[in-house]
Amino acid sequence: MSPAEGEFAGRAVFVTGAAHGIGASVVAAFVREGARVFATDADADGLRALAARRPGAITAHPLDVTDPVAVETAVATAEDTLGPLDVVACVAGILRTSPVTELTDADWSASLAVNTSGVFHVTRAAARRMTPRGRGALVTVASNAAGVPRAGMAAYAASKAATVMYTKCLGLELAPHGIRCNTVSPGSTLTAMQRAMWGEDQEAGARRVVEGDPAAFRTGIPLGRIAEPADIADAVTFLASDRARHITMHDLYVDGGATLRA
Ligand SMILES: NC(=O)c1ccc[n+]([C@@H]2O[C@H](COP(=O)([O-])OP(=O)(O)OC[C@H]3O[C@@H](n4cnc5c(N)ncnc54)[C@H](O)[C@@H]3O)[C@@H](O)[C@H]2O)c1
Repeated sequence: MSPAEGEFAGRAVFVTGAAHGIGASVVAAFVREGARVFATDADADGLRALAARRPGAITAHPLDVTDPVAVETAVATAEDTLGPLDVVACVAGILRTSPVTELTDADWSASLAVNTSGVFHVTRAAARRMTPRGRGALVTVASNAAGVPRAGMAAYAASKAATVMYTKCLGLELAPHGIRCNTVSPGSTLTAMQRAMWGEDQEAGARRVVEGDPAAFRTGIPLGRIAEPADIADAVTFLASDRARHITMHDLYVDGGATLRA
């Protein structure tokens, strides 16, 4: 399919956390469907490698989403480069695991700074520009950990739960302006973030995730597999597309049934 023929042909899309994992897959999905993508990430080298893999298809712009001034500049630059943004996908995220009694102030603050405030900075900057135009779609990648308690993941889960509710409130405020705001909540997905939790024996780690771990009060994955980044990217592009034109304030779980609510 030529770029001009895809579902997002002619659309301008801003992506955070674009260099690796789910974000890179989200970029690939939008590019495949004809979008012009402004790809951002705190990892400038990773972003360069992504751009090299997709010559001409994306504009790469290093961005740390915790910096509100840099976010404002990035969104302005994206609009100067690509024209008015149609879609913003917030994918950047970090995972800091620790029991609460050992959780450091730095890990707590960083989790909220990236996973919650980062989404606030980016969507606020985009919403200010989209509101007078009366169109746009914002999709944020949260986590199924926002909806079910997980041992050792309090900072992460709290940051993602805040983001889900923030996005619903934003969706309510922006609905009269024709702007939709939704979250995608992945379960375990095959990326560096997930693998980092598996320790030395990666196979055993993957098995534990699929089969569940009663000692950790963790159900397994009823569909019997770990998500691939493309599974999450599909949900993001769907919610960003006109096929989802009547969907807003929704939280779409893509977790193979792991939280027994799918
Ligand atoms: N992998 C999973 O199992 C899983 C499950 C649920 C939710 N998620 C969420 O999906 C999203 C993507 O995660 P992933 O698994 O692809 O992880 P990843 O670590 O592979 O990718 C995360 C990306 O975010 C970027 N990033 C980190 N901090 C940033 C910052 N301050 N500013 C800009 N970019 C920053 C990283 O450089 C990286 O490219 C995250 O929000 C994560 O919380 C992942």
